[in-house]
Amino acid sequence: MITTFENYLNRNAKRMNRLVFDFFEQEAVPDMMRYLYQPLADYSMNGGKRHRPLICELACQAVGGDAERAQSAGAAIEHFHTAALIHDDIADESTLRRGQPCMHLAQGEGLAINAGDLALSQVTGLIVADTHLDDKTKLRVLDELIKMTTRTIEGQALDIGWARDGRFDLSVDDYLLMATHKTAYYSGGTPLAVGAIVGDGTEREIEVLRSFGLATGLAFQIQDDILNLIGKKEAVKKDFRSDIVEGKRTLIAVHALRNSARSAELTAILAAHTTQASVLAEAVEIMREAGSFDFARDYATRLVNDAKDELAGALPASKPRDLLLSMADFFINRMH
Ligand code: IPE
Ligand code: IPE
Ligand code: MG
Ligand code: MG
Repeated sequence: MITTFENYLNRNAKRMNRLVFDFFEQEAVPDMMRYLYQPLADYSMNGGKRHRPLICELACQAVGGDAERAQSAGAAIEHFHTAALIHDDIADESTLRRGQPCMHLAQGEGLAINAGDLALSQVTGLIVADTHLDDKTKLRVLDELIKMTTRTIEGQALDIGWARDGRFDLSVDDYLLMATHKTAYYSGGTPLAVGAIVGDGTEREIEVLRSFGLATGLAFQIQDDILNLIGKKEAVKKDFRSDIVEGKRTLIAVHALRNSARSAELTAILAAHTTQASVLAEAVEIMREAGSFDFARDYATRLVNDAKDELAGALPASKPRDLLLSMADFFINRMH
């Protein structure tokens, strides 16, 4: 099912490509180009869905603002995403990202960490350099982006730490906190709140959009968990079933560990870090038997439906608002 929002992404993602050139130092010496700027530009040009800058723009428009004012914040958040992915793939020992070898495999870990750091420097740098925003607005946007960065890093710490220590004492609420921090802030809450801020929305509009973005951003991560386990490999273009290999505490895994009669077997598989396809399939079967995919899907659907009701009640109908409502459905129906 192609949603309105998916069509919107397909039509507008390329327009966001120029974001990636904002960090290009035209005067960089050839070896800086070779070891830093070019690898990061190539990585960013092989773009993903680009939903974050696009929803930042939509939030700005939904409160009556001029889309131009959301450009630097959208670009900043996309650069943050780039950095997060490069560093995340090192932490998760991943091999494939957007159908290509991960940056640390193509360039080596040292240069990958460094290129991610450059992308991070753009997050604040682009806002400071923006000529459309007054200083007071810039300061507020910077405050939002710094908080977003902190939240994401906190979530990553839980995700990576739980896997490192083989923690099996986690509840659904633990998962929800981790996923909200690692993904929902930067993938939904902050892009929408910042879009509303630069669009001169009221405080109420800013908070309504933030809360819509947080709830749907969490649903986005739940769908990411589902796709890793039972998605279509060719569509996802990332390592398949790697969340089992890495022993990740996904919502599906946490639910199955608590509800499956075969929870000891699942624990052993998640602790083994095996890549054997038949064993990974067995883990998925245990989760399916325990109703864990249905649980995760239902949870994400509830999040999305409640969030849509709230947004529809709080903002008057408009094309940008309706695209954001459709975004929520896309987040849980997407196949990639
Ligand atoms: C992947 O994000 C990382 C998560 C937060 C789950 P996206 O699914 O937005 O990645 P791209 O940019 O489309 O590749
Ligand atoms: C998503 O991490 C959040 C960040 C990258 C900060 P994951 O590890 O869950 O996402 P994928 O599956 O690698 O994209
Ligand atoms: Mg990962
Ligand atoms: Mg990760």
